[in-house]
Order: sequence, then structure tokens, then C-alpha cells
Amino acid sequence: MTTNRRKWLLAAGATAAGAAGGLVWWRRTREERTMPPERAAQPALPPLPLDPDFPNPLARPGTDGINGILDVGGMLTIVAKPVRHALEPGKSASLLGFEVEHLGKRYINPLLRIRSGGQFRARFWNALEDPSIIHWHGLKLDSNNDGHPHYAVAGGATYDYQFTVTNRAATYWYHPHPHHHTGRQVYLGLTGLFVVEDAEELALGEALDLSLGATDIPLIIQDRTLDKNGQIRFAPEDGERFDGYRGAAVLVNGTPRPYLDTATRILRFRILNGSNARMYRVAFRQGENLVAFQVIGTDGGLLPGPQSAQEVFLSPSERVDVLLDLRAARRGDTVTLSSLAFDPMEHESHAGAPAPEHTGHHANAAPAPAKVAIPAEGDAMDLMKIRVTTENTYDRTIPRTLARFMADDGTLARPRLITLDVKGGRWRINGRTYEQRETPIVVKRDTRELWDINNAKRSMPHPFHIHGFQFKVISRKGSPEQQSRLAVTPAGLSCTDLGWKDTVLTWPGETVRIAIDFTHPYPGDQVYMVHCHNLEHEDGGMMVNMKVAS
Ligand code: C2O
Ligand code: CU
Ligand code: CU
Repeated sequence: MTTNRRKWLLAAGATAAGAAGGLVWWRRTREERTMPPERAAQPALPPLPLDPDFPNPLARPGTDGINGILDVGGMLTIVAKPVRHALEPGKSASLLGFEVEHLGKRYINPLLRIRSGGQFRARFWNALEDPSIIHWHGLKLDSNNDGHPHYAVAGGATYDYQFTVTNRAATYWYHPHPHHHTGRQVYLGLTGLFVVEDAEELALGEALDLSLGATDIPLIIQDRTLDKNGQIRFAPEDGERFDGYRGAAVLVNGTPRPYLDTATRILRFRILNGSNARMYRVAFRQGENLVAFQVIGTDGGLLPGPQSAQEVFLSPSERVDVLLDLRAARRGDTVTLSSLAFDPMEHESHAGAPAPEHTGHHANAAPAPAKVAIPAEGDAMDLMKIRVTTENTYDRTIPRTLARFMADDGTLARPRLITLDVKGGRWRINGRTYEQRETPIVVKRDTRELWDINNAKRSMPHPFHIHGFQFKVISRKGSPEQQSRLAVTPAGLSCTDLGWKDTVLTWPGETVRIAIDFTHPYPGDQVYMVHCHNLEHEDGGMMVNMKVAS
């Protein structure tokens, strides 16, 4: 590494440490900074050589097409159907997609963008063979609009949604939720983002000169096994149904081995772990050195202020919103978005697995010749290359205050205990697997509760998700070292536990306390669900109904 780069890394670290502390960053001369844009524009420079390991430009949300940005208005028709699209360049694959035609444009898995307080109306048309329903992950809704599996409609049928978006700004998402079929339908392509905006969000975008799709970039991370023809292979074996189905390659916005070109500036990434089962230990690195970044938001939107971090765990369905500061970078610098190695803590899981011979899917078990090697959970992986191609003037700094909300003091009544464990080869919540007609959890509307989510010692990590409400994380106890070392509060919270959440990662042996406010405006009883967001666990029944009684 050159001295130049070393300096830059130090600068990045210092930037993170003193985000709002008045440090002097990389500065250009006054003339450079005040030059009008046309004159500041670089003469055309020769393209930088491609890294053969990252040859594909990252797909980003544009004005139509895949993940295209659709500003919600009027009545949408969202059709879940087979579509063709090349994941590997030049290899057209058959996938499933949510297709929408709107104002003369065609979208697949549109990024639905709406203002907080806006009206959402859509007809879901299930043009799949299997039953399906759309769940709006993270939104506060009544059960009719939530997309509970109970409302799944048969192939050919429709389901109408109509609701007011009351959530604060955040990156929510939508996906199918039919019981037993969720994992397959998501894996084959049915995933979209639901971006809510409000005044705080718009202020940040303004302060940092962000533009969604260009410099404010959603990254949907999904691991997929593609065969040699570029087709997605969904064929979990027993062991994979138990642990979760993991793919051989990690796609970002559907792009395998992607790169992203940028100018010297601050980039925002809204990262969604849309994988069925794989967790990531997200970091940015330059060579062996980690590059500090700012965590600015979680599942339910912006944090009160930016938090400096070098790594965050992201389990399935969680989102993290981060800023990567490349103001001090030079043309030709690269940063790699990676998942660092971690202990998957799955060894215990086989205590309850059906039979040991069914669990031979790990990379170290000899793969059958036709099979692609699948990285084991916790293996280090590089996900995307970020290349600095342009040096330009960008004179913005990260605001100290991003949002205002109350921290929860966690002083409520006796907590409700929620246990996660395994018996007879099945993952359970409070000793149960899913029964559509039963509602084992009943809470009273307009009350606040503490829940202690206790993951058994002989278990595996479970991303614990609640429909219909965002909650606060109060404490983590019994955390493994790889989690506790990220603690930024005496209660053991990491910086990604500081915001609003709809999914929280629970490690084996850990007890995570959360606070939930069951206040909502919907009349009568409302039935939601509580489940593990490892989609194979969910499809296997690690899910219970929760009634919010009027
Ligand atoms: Cu994304 Cu029931 O969940
Ligand atoms: Cu959900
Ligand atoms: Cu689970």
C-alpha cells in the first residue's frame, strides 16, 4: 500500500471519529471549490481497468425496469409472474417478478416511493401457480393490509390493498408471504423496496446532495446459486431446510460480481439483507484495512445521529443505512464491500437436526461433482467493488442531528418471555410451530410491552421479526464475543440496535430485550405474526400468530 493510500485511510478513520467535530477534511484550493461545474468538469480520462473479479456494473434503480423508482400515485396493479431477465450477462434466466405498468412505463420489482402520510392503493394479481400474497415488511398496517399468509390467494386470483402510510421515512420492503412457499418465491426473484420519505429524510438528502439511485443507492444483497446456464437453482435438501438455504454467489441488486463507479464524495447505501438465510458481517475495506463508515439508519429509519462503525451484522430482512465518505479519496482508489468472517454458531443446531447425514451441505463436505461449492455461513466474502473514477468538488458535511425520537427507558411491566429453540428437528417459538388457527400471543392494543427474546444455547442465530410494529432494542445479555465487542452502550447494544427495528438478530444463548408499543388506530382485533426471518425456518413453521386485542 502506498503512503498516499495510508493517509487516505487515516483520513477516513478520522472522518468517522469526528463526524461532526469540525475536523478539516481533504480540501481543495478556493478556486477549485468555487469553479462553476462546467469548468470544474474533468477532461475525459481513460477508463480505469476492470477488476476481473468484479466485471459487472451494479444495477441501480432507474426510472423504469428492474427495481425502477415508481412514485406511488393512483391505483397500481402489481402482478407476480414469471419473467425473463439475465442475471449473468448474456444468459437469460427465468425468474419470478412483481410487474407493474404505470404511466406508460414497465417495472419489475419497482422501488415504491411514497411520502409519509400518503395513500397506497394496489391490486395484487397472483399470476403464479402457487398461492401468494404481498407482505409490506416493516409497515404499520391493519391485518387486512399486512399480507398475513392467511390472506394468500390462489394462482389467478387478486387481492386489494388500500392503506395510509403512517410510518416514518425508512427503507421498508415487500415480499410474498404464503405459508410454506415464501422461501422459494423470494429466492426466485420476488423482492422489492418500499421507500418512505418525510421531512427529516428530505433534509438529509438535501444536506448531502443525495439522489436516490445515483448517490443514495439501495443495495439488495441476496445469495443465489446459479447453474452454468445462469438459471437460479432452488432445491434445498433436508439439511438446508433446517439451517436455511444458502447460495453459491452473492448478488447485489441482482448483479453478480458487481462494481460501482463513483466520484470523490459521500455515498449513501441503504443495505437490505434480502437473503433467505445467509447473514453478513458488513464492512468496507481497502486491502486488509477496514474503512470506517457512518451508520445513519436501521429498519425503521434514521438514527438520532450518525454512529461511526467498522462493521455491522446484518441478518435476513434487516436494513442498515450507511454513509461512506470518499471525499479524501483519489481517482483509482478502490474500496471493497465485504462480509467479514464470523462464527456462524450453527454447530449446536445439529443437536436437533433430523439426522446427521442430511446436513452435508457445508463447503467442507465433499460436494457432488455437478454441484457448485457453496460458501459456508460465516465465510469471508467480497460483495462489491467501489471504484473512485472522478475527483470532483463536493463540499458537504454530515449533519450532527438526523432525526428526533425518544429513546425507550425500558422501565415497564414484567417482560413477556419469548423462547426460540428446536425440538424433533423443528424450530419453535414458545415451544410451538405454526398453526394458522391459533394465536398463542395476545396483547392488548394501546399498551406497551417488554419482550425478552431468549434464543436457546443449542441453537443457531435467528432474525426475530414482528409484523405491524416497529420496536426498540433495550438490552442484549449473554451475547457471544463477536456481538458484545460491538456494544456501544452498557446494555450491550450495538449501533444498529439504536434505531427503530422490525427484525432483531438473536444469537444462541442470547436474551434480547425489546420494547413494543401496541398503540394503533385500527378498530377491532388485529392479527399479525411473529416469526424467524430465516425463510426456511419460517416456512418450516418457526412462526406464530399474534393478536392485538381491542
Ligand atoms: Cu419480511 Cu413476515 O416478513
Ligand atoms: Cu414482515
Ligand atoms: Cu430461525
